[in-house]
Amino acid sequence: MKILIEKDYEAMSARAARIVAERIRRKPDLVLGLATGSTPIGMYRHWIGMVQAGDLSFTDVTTFNLDEYVGLAGDHPQSFRTFMHEQLFRQIDVKPERTHIPDGVAPDLAAECAEYNRLIEEAGGIDVQILGIGKNGHIGFNEPGEDFGKLTHVVRLSENTRRANSRFFPRLEDVPTHAITMGLKSIMNARQIVLLAAGTDKCDAVQRALYGDVTEDLPASVLQLHPNCVVVLDEAAASKLPADGNNGKWEMEK
Ligand code: PGA
Repeated sequence: MKILIEKDYEAMSARAARIVAERIRRKPDLVLGLATGSTPIGMYRHWIGMVQAGDLSFTDVTTFNLDEYVGLAGDHPQSFRTFMHEQLFRQIDVKPERTHIPDGVAPDLAAECAEYNRLIEEAGGIDVQILGIGKNGHIGFNEPGEDFGKLTHVVRLSENTRRANSRFFPRLEDVPTHAITMGLKSIMNARQIVLLAAGTDKCDAVQRALYGDVTEDLPASVLQLHPNCVVVLDEAAASKLPADGNNGKWEMEK
């Protein structure tokens, strides 16, 4: 694990954008795992700027998003499909047919999960997976207590997560109770992981994920076992980390 600490959200976003852009330039048909939430929006803006400047192209990139709410169709205003369309896809040159997000209104959710796993495998697996982290240490919609061994599956959302995400919905009652998410095993199968976190809200989860026990009580802690994980933080999210990278436990760059 490598920890990169940038001054603020903007610098964190620029750094993460450059890391992934460099991977795409070296492998134009990269398979890229994407995330929703507030955190990656700044990085997406940087990619959009690079594409518009002619410095980056997504034409041969294939994307797989981590998750989608159960019960929301792709064109629902609060679906993650809509989020990705607005925040990224419609502003870059990615081919729509190469963008994948689970179908939250599939009639057979178990079959939808199996199909999602099959598509990832058919694409050759995920080269780079972008992740945010929840205040409770979730990654994707893998909440505390999730089995490390699962691929894409249906989860019940914790009340914490529903409350945190209610900011995107008219009312708390409108937040779905379930979601389809890539599992922790799907995430760990990615060849590289880029975890982003910003703000003091995240500093406890980040500290526990990187320096606490590896435990299913804190899903992001599984990343300690990943052979190629880059964590890009702003100073606020890094504020509870040992200044020296904990005696060299992880490589740290400020
Ligand atoms: P956020 O969400 O980026 O909106 O903070 C991260 C997450 O819950 O995974």
